[in-house]
Amino acid sequence: MQLSEYLALVDSLAHDARALLDGIDPATRVDAAKGQLNALKDARMVALQGALRDLPAADKRAAGGAFNGLKTMVDELMESFIARQRAASGTGPALDLSMPARRTWAGSLHPVTIVIDEICDIFRELGFTIALGPEAETEHYNFGALNFPPDHPAMELHDTLYLGDDTLLRTHTSPVQVRTLQRYAPPIRILAPGTVFRRDPFDASHAPAFAQVEGLAVDEGISFVDLKATLAEFARRFYGKSRRVRFGPSYFPFVEPGAQMDVEVDLNDGKGLRWVEILGCGMVHPNVIEAAGIDSEKYTGWAFGMGPARIAMSRYDISDIRVLYDSDVRFLEQFAR
Ligand code: PHE
Repeated sequence: MQLSEYLALVDSLAHDARALLDGIDPATRVDAAKGQLNALKDARMVALQGALRDLPAADKRAAGGAFNGLKTMVDELMESFIARQRAASGTGPALDLSMPARRTWAGSLHPVTIVIDEICDIFRELGFTIALGPEAETEHYNFGALNFPPDHPAMELHDTLYLGDDTLLRTHTSPVQVRTLQRYAPPIRILAPGTVFRRDPFDASHAPAFAQVEGLAVDEGISFVDLKATLAEFARRFYGKSRRVRFGPSYFPFVEPGAQMDVEVDLNDGKGLRWVEILGCGMVHPNVIEAAGIDSEKYTGWAFGMGPARIAMSRYDISDIRVLYDSDVRFLEQFAR
């Protein structure tokens, strides 16, 4: 290609680009105008750039200068088009004030996930590590090894979801206590978050599948004082100093003595302050420790199982547990941070 031929091609592209933007309907949106301009430019610019390489060395300088000039000119044309659009906006049809605004969506963690993460963080600071166990459990781990007598009502078909003769969906995270005791030697301090399943009706305070966080501490010389102090410290860190908590007696076959911890909450439903149970706890029953092959004369421990959904309800003033399962964006987006 001759230099003159090359310069003519540059000129004709410059001409066409100018004609395009001069003739464009002022109602065209900037991105559409850019699209049209790019369509015009793309193939021809690439060809011009390629042709540059094949020109005789003596012509390269002049041709390159023309090519760069073309690029700058096209950019300037676009900028002046944008400036004209800006100046005209508000008067021309390019701005439609009735159009809904574009919304930015902020994703969020589910409130129950937020609570589980916070619980894990607090107990990690207190020296606990995370342990996990299977959701499909054996009767032995879910009940037998936890000191349930063989005819305990929790094992009934109408309370527990069985997958087979001996396999079931765990009704609590307490089997992780047994699995941990079997696998590790004391001192043990673990936290086991996970999903549990019960044949409960789905109502304002029950769900058939829900999260639990199990805690277990086993060592020499552990007493009920450690249990109470640790859980009270957890409540202080989680709810703040001013929130009242109380312990009361409770029964679970795998602890002795057994207790529960309640927090005082106002769910903003007009019913005022009330106590809500957020966890069951107690000193690990010697039978459970012995069944795992650990000397219960030497080692003692405590355990708890808490319900993060209940805790989320107490923290966020939620009076119906079902909103935690509805996946309604209007509810969930309130937790975006
Ligand atoms: N596993 C019990 C439940 O699901 C809670 C619990 C855990 C109680 C550990 C005491 C000790 O209700």
